[in-house]
Amino acid sequence: MKLCVIGTGYVGLVSGVCFSDLGNTVYCVDKDVDKISALNRGIIPIYEPGLAEVLKKNHKQKKLIFTTDLKKAVSKSDIIFICVGTPTKKNNNSADLKYVFNVVKQLKKNILKYKIIVTKSTVPVTTGDKIENILIKLKNKKLVDIVSNPEFLREGDAIRDFIYPDRVIIGTDSKKANKILKNLYMPIIKKNSRYFNTSRRGAELIKYASNAFLATKISFINELANLSEKTGVDIKDISVGMGSDQRIGDRFLRAGPAYGGSCFPKDTRALLDTAKNFKTDLSIIKSVVKSNNLRKILLTQRIKKILNGKLKNKKITFLGVTFKPNTDDMREASSIPMIKYLNKNNSKIRYFDPSGEKKEFKKLKNVEFCKSIAEACLKSDLIILHTEWNDFKLLNFKNLVKKTNFKIYDMRNIYSPSKMKNLKIKYFGIGR
Ligand SMILES: NC(=O)c1ccc[n+]([C@@H]2O[C@H](COP(=O)([O-])OP(=O)(O)OC[C@H]3O[C@@H](n4cnc5c(N)ncnc54)[C@H](O)[C@@H]3O)[C@@H](O)[C@H]2O)c1
Repeated sequence: MKLCVIGTGYVGLVSGVCFSDLGNTVYCVDKDVDKISALNRGIIPIYEPGLAEVLKKNHKQKKLIFTTDLKKAVSKSDIIFICVGTPTKKNNNSADLKYVFNVVKQLKKNILKYKIIVTKSTVPVTTGDKIENILIKLKNKKLVDIVSNPEFLREGDAIRDFIYPDRVIIGTDSKKANKILKNLYMPIIKKNSRYFNTSRRGAELIKYASNAFLATKISFINELANLSEKTGVDIKDISVGMGSDQRIGDRFLRAGPAYGGSCFPKDTRALLDTAKNFKTDLSIIKSVVKSNNLRKILLTQRIKKILNGKLKNKKITFLGVTFKPNTDDMREASSIPMIKYLNKNNSKIRYFDPSGEKKEFKKLKNVEFCKSIAEACLKSDLIILHTEWNDFKLLNFKNLVKKTNFKIYDMRNIYSPSKMKNLKIKYFGIGR
């Protein structure tokens, strides 16, 4: 099939690359001229394991075309995927749909024969209805079907998630569109994924419900960790004990810092906004958002406590600053408020992240990116294991830190407290 993917960010680029690898011709469109020019030179704008190889292969075979020319890409395609961002609006909790609607307005002028327009971007329930209203003339002429097909891939595992999804959700009541999309996804569905056709509104809401539920699981175990800490219980034991129950499941049940990233924070907020518009009280999600915001403060206060209340001139190392491993995405990473607070209180921060230096900290005096773990840890008073990259799992801290009396705050519970005790290292974890 011939596809057009609009927006070549984490979702659009991965989707485009994977669809081309499955044998389709994919036009990947972005308004960012630099991004498209880089992609055409084989430079990948994001850190995503395995993406480069598949991208280069299909680009070379001309099954993957990068362009800023939306009109041409649309005219050549049968299915159009909208994959632009839907960030939180500046002044309230709602999802900012301006990028989506800008694309739709461009589509309005450029559709001359039947196309399926698919929103892969995460959009609040009833957004598809609004898109259809904008395109009502095309709809009445049977030139478009507007479908919701939310994406569930995880950064860091995106290729695998796309090729082996747990489910493919298609929200449409058009039999024609459903048949074509089922065909498109057939190679993936064959690999034991569930294909689920529901209403467009249903598909839109499934995405928010899923993210809000996962955010709830994380916040739940994070709060339990606070109680474990005070009662001398190891939260890891609680996770194992609870997670072994198949009704509960062990994934997303590991205590750590506040959840971050480009999805959970904004999607939980947007869901609350939708609920407000429809006069529905989602009190559980409200608590989750509150709990997660408090967690950023709580862990920062804990850092202060570990350093006996003295932050001034303390040398603090962050190992990992991204919201999770195997991505370079810094959106709403909990390291940002922590580092900003510590910096304001005159601590001296060094950080190392395998995905490189971060623009978020470039302007902060006394926040320094180091090119190696060793350089970052050398003179540290406190090492904070913030992100669970594999690089940080087998470190010999006694060799790394040329100082006695350094401390470790392991926010991912990677290391064993008893082994640290044997090594006479002052070690603090989460909920243990
Ligand atoms: N990142 C994830 O892990 C993930 C997972 C599932 C769903 N989603 C959802 O997918 C959507 C996209 O997320 P993302 O992280 O890929 O976003 P992103 O910010 O990485 O990428 C969005 C891209 O869209 C481009 N764009 C914006 N307006 C455009 C226009 N008019 N024409 C062409 N290109 C345009 C931008 O230049 C950018 O490259 C969001 O709704 C998000 O919630 C994201």
